[in-house]
Amino acid sequence: MCGIVGAIAQRDVSDILVEGLKRLEYRGYDSAGVAIYHDGQVERIRRAGKVSELKDALANSPIAGGLGIAHTRWATHGEPTEKNAHPHMSKDNIALVHNGIIENHEELREELKSKGYVFKSDTDTEVIAHCLHEELKKHETLLAALLATTKKLKGAYGTVAIDANQPDKMVVARSGSPLVIGKGIGEYFVASDQLALLPVTRDFLYLEEGEVAEVRRDGITLLNSDGEQVEREFETSNIQHDAVDKGNFRHFMLKEIFEQPSVVADTLEGRIVDNQVYIETLGDNAAKVFEQTEALQIIACGTSYNAALVAKYWVEHYLNIPCLVEIASEYRYRTTATIPNSLFITISQSGETADTLAALSKAKNEGYLASLTVCNSPASSMVRESDFTLLTRAGTEIGVASTKAFTAQLVSLLLLTISIGKAKGLAKETEHDIVKALEHLPSEIQKALDQADDIDKLSEAFSEKHHTLFLGRGQQYPIAMEAALKLKEVSYIHAEAYAAGELKHGPLALIDKDMPTVVVAPNDNLLEKLKSNIEEVRSRGGSLFVFADKSAKIQDSDGITVFPVDSSYSVTAPIVYTVPLQLLSYYVAVIKGTDVDQPRNLAKSVTVE
Ligand code: G6P
Repeated sequence: MCGIVGAIAQRDVSDILVEGLKRLEYRGYDSAGVAIYHDGQVERIRRAGKVSELKDALANSPIAGGLGIAHTRWATHGEPTEKNAHPHMSKDNIALVHNGIIENHEELREELKSKGYVFKSDTDTEVIAHCLHEELKKHETLLAALLATTKKLKGAYGTVAIDANQPDKMVVARSGSPLVIGKGIGEYFVASDQLALLPVTRDFLYLEEGEVAEVRRDGITLLNSDGEQVEREFETSNIQHDAVDKGNFRHFMLKEIFEQPSVVADTLEGRIVDNQVYIETLGDNAAKVFEQTEALQIIACGTSYNAALVAKYWVEHYLNIPCLVEIASEYRYRTTATIPNSLFITISQSGETADTLAALSKAKNEGYLASLTVCNSPASSMVRESDFTLLTRAGTEIGVASTKAFTAQLVSLLLLTISIGKAKGLAKETEHDIVKALEHLPSEIQKALDQADDIDKLSEAFSEKHHTLFLGRGQQYPIAMEAALKLKEVSYIHAEAYAAGELKHGPLALIDKDMPTVVVAPNDNLLEKLKSNIEEVRSRGGSLFVFADKSAKIQDSDGITVFPVDSSYSVTAPIVYTVPLQLLSYYVAVIKGTDVDQPRNLAKSVTVE
């Protein structure tokens, strides 16, 4: 969840490192640092706080040099202070940055202390630096020493190190935390995400699990975990440079909310032909697996989990097969029972979430037919480790609170539901009806976006509140959950979602004039039930904000503010209702003055458990 950048070039690398960190800051942002080789030694600057603090420090005391590593941190072991910021050093020569968690750090720390190493931070990372220093006594090259070091580590790491005594190279290692090498002309770069390197290269090589590499100005040497040389070509990425630019929007979150009509259109592109769904990339084998599929097990975290819950309603309604949904951190550690002929599905924006990856790895021994990932990152671990991939085409999402990736997941999950259905005899008319709804989705989302100013006004009613309750029924219940998650993530207002039918079983006790209740009320078969729930809240003095279909005949009245939503198709209504609720969270956060794109304590890609 932290960000790593490294560079080896003829030119000074400090600007490249800082620009790379800025681009990765959405992954972790509580402290940052660089170490650059200059004049025979490694010089280091670190700062608590955002990358801008580090940038200012470097502006005051520049370090010139053609070899350097940098890191932006999201604290796991040790507080977010300067002494715990990376790079960490061993003696005066080794500097090292690390993403992930070293589980056996305590044991290694004791061993290294007994050998005379002095620890200057509370981090697990520092043990890797000292281990590498120790191994260098036994091995000639930095690469051999790093490979030996990795054998001592338990846990997850993406790590990069430099040595003042061998300044013609940096070395990298990957296990459970991604690393990419970028190639320039007479220069090479490394990063935990290719986004960091887009200003300097488009040619990338992803390290695979267990690999280590030596990166020089004139080339790289790549070894597998047994120390055998591996040959792999660099690939040219077509990712857009401006993906990390806010354009005219005040925040990435707002930009990404407004991108949703085109994200949905992109996700559908080429997958609907003549009113039918074709997902060519899944291949013929997928159709065979779908034919045999008698149940689905979906695993995800956070917003992706909420997308999975919506899919459950679709799958059980249209396919009439069980669809189990579970949070990855629960699934991975409990004894689970697999329904025979089940397909295992992960959903992940980043494709690097540690718990989801661990669940996938566990599932491989649990007798599933196959694994499929619905993922937004084509080069991610989740994609590499799954049998089938359905790519959501949301593009790079920078805002820590997920918005466009969620709608792209929902669209993809609906396409997947139809694809599985087709292999199992879903009626053609049903497929056509869903396809029609999907085709109208970009324009329905656009209509919701056109109401942004009205939601901005509505948001004032929430900004002074400390709690908010969200209610929904059926397939809108997970949308209420996602809305509550969004509000708490970006505005820091405590928010809870309930299936409206559960109101009497607890949350009704909380209703008073100080806690707004937001209701998601499309005109579906549950509307009348929902109207009763609205009355239950109103008669207890609660104030209600109802996002309702125009035809739902819910009027503004004492205690009830109605916000009209235009959604003509029941199946895609969860996606349309998501949009005004995202906007609501965004505008409340803006009024409250929070750090919308980088909310406190959160990170975009949770690569540690
Ligand atoms: C973090 C992010 C969320 C995301 C969740 C799962 O908590 O802040 O936005 O939903 O991780 O991430 P994934 O990349 O697996 O979808």
